[in-house]
Amino acid sequence: MVSENYLSRWAVLIPFIGMDQDDWMAGRTFRPNFLDSLNASRYTFGKLTAKELEMMNYDAFLQLVQKQRSIRRFKPDPLPDEFIDKIIEAGRFAPSGANSQPWEIVVVKDKEIKDQIVEILKEANVGNYKLGQTRPKEEQHPGDRRLHLHPGFQHAPVFFVLFYDKRLKTTYPLSAQAYSCESVTHSSMANIFLYMHMAATCLGLASQWITATAQPLPQALIKQLLDVPREFILYDTMIAGYPDQSPPPRLVRPAAEFTHINRYNRNKYRYDEQVKEFIRAIHQGRSTMPD
Ligand SMILES: Cc1cc2nc3c(=O)[nH]c(=O)nc-3n(C[C@H](O)[C@H](O)[C@H](O)COP(=O)(O)O)c2cc1C
Repeated sequence: MVSENYLSRWAVLIPFIGMDQDDWMAGRTFRPNFLDSLNASRYTFGKLTAKELEMMNYDAFLQLVQKQRSIRRFKPDPLPDEFIDKIIEAGRFAPSGANSQPWEIVVVKDKEIKDQIVEILKEANVGNYKLGQTRPKEEQHPGDRRLHLHPGFQHAPVFFVLFYDKRLKTTYPLSAQAYSCESVTHSSMANIFLYMHMAATCLGLASQWITATAQPLPQALIKQLLDVPREFILYDTMIAGYPDQSPPPRLVRPAAEFTHINRYNRNKYRYDEQVKEFIRAIHQGRSTMPD
């Protein structure tokens, strides 16, 4: 519990951070060096207030989730800085293993630097294409088949390049450090990444994952280009901008197909042929899209 004297010194800030003085004085608060991260609803313990409940709207949330799509062709129109800030603001509240928040984000707006990233990816895709050709045609992902000579994101206004700091893994319990370190870090990064994509969707923007930036060669070249310290690992890149395409409907599995109550329901087991058929269907859905 924090001392009352100490609290009253900070009480002057309360009107600006949207907290109840009662909450504050009752010690339902956190350490002062996190003052810049205050978010009243996140830190209200117990029952939600009526006002908070009013703001929680499952239908609106579901609509947002359904609206989030991967857009692979962007208009070159610039994004206002306010949108960039809002995307990052949503991301910084993402849950992470041990609250380690291992992320670092380089926001690339400069055309020359973006062009160089695109060149690095095009070069890497020559090898990726050759690799993809070693698979039977019917198993190929659209990305195996195309050279991506003119990626649809090349003129997008903003590239968010996300890195993680591997030193933060020491925040995890020793068992996690020993056995599941990578998955905890990757899940943490996936969380901030998804929050950012959702924020972009909420702002009416388009966004795309670019996993290829994390491959060893693009990773090394992009780190050098952006002057990123060695101990940071490139996780993934989010492209954001205004959409220049509307994707076809997404193929989504019915919940009953993959939900099992209490025990796995073996009647729902998918045989190899069914899995192959499903993979063909999702690849076909993708391949009709320009990129
Ligand atoms: C972990 C992850 C990696 C992804 N990597 C890429 C990528 O490198 N390039 C891309 O165009 N889309 C990428 N996507 C987007 C998926 O292909 C997309 O979410 C999925 O096909 C559903 O399609 P939809 O967003 O159009 O509904 C990725 C998505 C996730 C979750």
